[in-house]
Amino acid sequence: MTLLLAPLPEKGIGLPHDASLHGWRIDALINETSVYVGLLFVIMVAWVVLACLRHGPRHEARFDHGTSTRSIAVGLCIAGAIFFVVDGPLFVNSLILARDVFGNFAKVEADPKSVRIEITAHQWAWVARYAGPDGKFNTPDDIVTFNDVVVPEGTPILFQLVSTDVIHSFNIPNMRAKIDAVPGMVNRVWFEAKETGEFDIACAQHCGLNHYKMKATLTVLPRPDWEKWAAEASANSARDYDPDDREAHWGWDWSEHARI
Ligand code: CUA
Repeated sequence: MTLLLAPLPEKGIGLPHDASLHGWRIDALINETSVYVGLLFVIMVAWVVLACLRHGPRHEARFDHGTSTRSIAVGLCIAGAIFFVVDGPLFVNSLILARDVFGNFAKVEADPKSVRIEITAHQWAWVARYAGPDGKFNTPDDIVTFNDVVVPEGTPILFQLVSTDVIHSFNIPNMRAKIDAVPGMVNRVWFEAKETGEFDIACAQHCGLNHYKMKATLTVLPRPDWEKWAAEASANSARDYDPDDREAHWGWDWSEHARI
């Protein structure tokens, strides 16, 4: 097993390296948006340049109030073209992705391979809890880690998140996964890593003085190595379990009512 000592630095410009199975779907939407924005920018600049060249100081200005039938028709046509060519398809494609992939929790929950992790966010750290061999949270065999999330490769990873103080945002750019942790509710997100390595977990909501320090590491291991890690970590937790340490028992029953 070769592990990198630190997350890989990003090279050049553009989106962070995509190490997730479905990240390309999000990248495609972002790239499509960038192409349209770039295209509209070029058209607008060309239009302004043309206007400057044609309408010099000797040109007599003409204007209307935009209330003529022609002005209204032109305005509606441009707005309609942008809506039906750019915004509409982006909106519909996003809804389809949310339904079939990123929001399809029923399918991921039903997969016996998937790994469930509870995350508690607080100023300024991420604490993770795995159910352990019994599959139940808040029991002595739970694995609890601090700013350190270890997951297997090629496996759907399901997170449920809470916050104990303010709003934080659990952000793993390399997995194209991001969800707010909000006091009073359980949110959820999932991804599947397609390669091993170490990646950054950052907080993406300004959450106080040390917001910038609120980062953790995601380590993706080959499944057999992860199984070994989990078995050892669970055995250690069970050995160190202290039933009187109420503070340590912050886990919750895996919620059926978690929200996106
Ligand atoms: Cu937590 Cu920013």
